[in-house]
Amino acid sequence: MEKEQVLEKLRSIKYPGFNRDIVSFGMVKDISIQASDITLELNISSQNEEKKKLVVESIKNELGSDFTSVKIVLKNEGMKSPPTQKSPHPVPILENVKHVIAIASGKGGVGKSTIAANLACALSRQGKKIGLLDLDIYGPSLPILLGLNEQPKMTQDNKLIPLDKFGMKVMSFGFISGNDTPVIWRGPLVSRMTEQFFRDVDWGELDILLLDLPPGTGDIQLTLTQKLRMTGAVIVTTPQDIALADVRKGADMFRKVKTPVLGVVENMSGLALNGKVNPTDSLIEINGKIVPVDSDGVFNLKLDLFKVGGGEQESKRLGVPLLGQIPFSEKVMLSTDEGIPITMEENIDEIGQVYIDIATQIISTIE
Ligand SMILES: Nc1ncnc2c1ncn2[C@@H]1O[C@H](COP(=O)(O)OP(=O)(O)OP(=O)(O)O)[C@@H](O)[C@H]1O
Ligand SMILES: [Mg+2]
Repeated sequence: MEKEQVLEKLRSIKYPGFNRDIVSFGMVKDISIQASDITLELNISSQNEEKKKLVVESIKNELGSDFTSVKIVLKNEGMKSPPTQKSPHPVPILENVKHVIAIASGKGGVGKSTIAANLACALSRQGKKIGLLDLDIYGPSLPILLGLNEQPKMTQDNKLIPLDKFGMKVMSFGFISGNDTPVIWRGPLVSRMTEQFFRDVDWGELDILLLDLPPGTGDIQLTLTQKLRMTGAVIVTTPQDIALADVRKGADMFRKVKTPVLGVVENMSGLALNGKVNPTDSLIEINGKIVPVDSDGVFNLKLDLFKVGGGEQESKRLGVPLLGQIPFSEKVMLSTDEGIPITMEENIDEIGQVYIDIATQIISTIE
């Protein structure tokens, strides 16, 4: 048997997980034939021993009937295009997305998802093409926050089409799994799923893709920082010190991987109260505070519930701006159940305005 014939036979062996054969990948470096013995030199740069074993076995099967001895020497010279990616022509991730911004915190329940949804709407109101991706695989919130209860459709080339809401493109694991499915997944699977949300979702052209991260510094955060070039991260904090210690961990993680922290948002920063009194009172006193009353008798007051200034301290330590302070507000909470973020309302109130200001700052920072 001639070398050419051997090569022809080897062309039938696909590299595991790929639709391309080992010859066209350039993995077959040398073939030497002596009588009925053949020695093949292979260069497979993958670290995956299982795949290497599969290739070796396939070669032995293919050539076993033509040669009495099939010897395979594995080399690893680091090929020009090692097939470590899922596709032979790896598509750059999120090619048509100008900026990727993560909304993160070290601690859970501080309001990341609420802020991500409101910020997305605020950015969208400013004419930006926005995508919003809920990466909280264990507890997706966006289906509820945005009142979405549909399953995404697929394109012809099997990509998921994000749902369209308030002019934004939205994707959440909750759309696929259903809101009630408890998901207990191990790290590697979570990482793969996360990557698929970038590769296998038809995001199209976007100005900004906002990522609603799960709390902490786990597998998803790790995958992100390894796979993506993020424009920056927005860190959400609450005014309490304990929350801040956790936030620091998150911020430090982004620092380590050289992702700029765009700023800090302090959420549940005081309690927003409003009410109406007799308009003849131009001032009233609540909890020892003198509060002005407008000509219709309406007053607005922010009561500090915790020690104030946590967000400010943290942003100073990080050397980044405090983008805004959002008070605890019943309206914000109720808007969650309604599935309409407050920034989507026609008349933007004071809290909505804080979001709009944060959006403006983000736009000017990244542009
Ligand atoms: N400013 C606010 N005023 C009132 N309620 C708020 C405010 N921000 C968030 N909430 C409420 O707090 C709860 C937690 O918020 P959210 O789900 O956004 O936090 P999270 O940080 O995304 O949580 P997780 O870490 O679990 O993902 C929700 O019920 C939300 O409606
Ligand atoms: Mg969340």
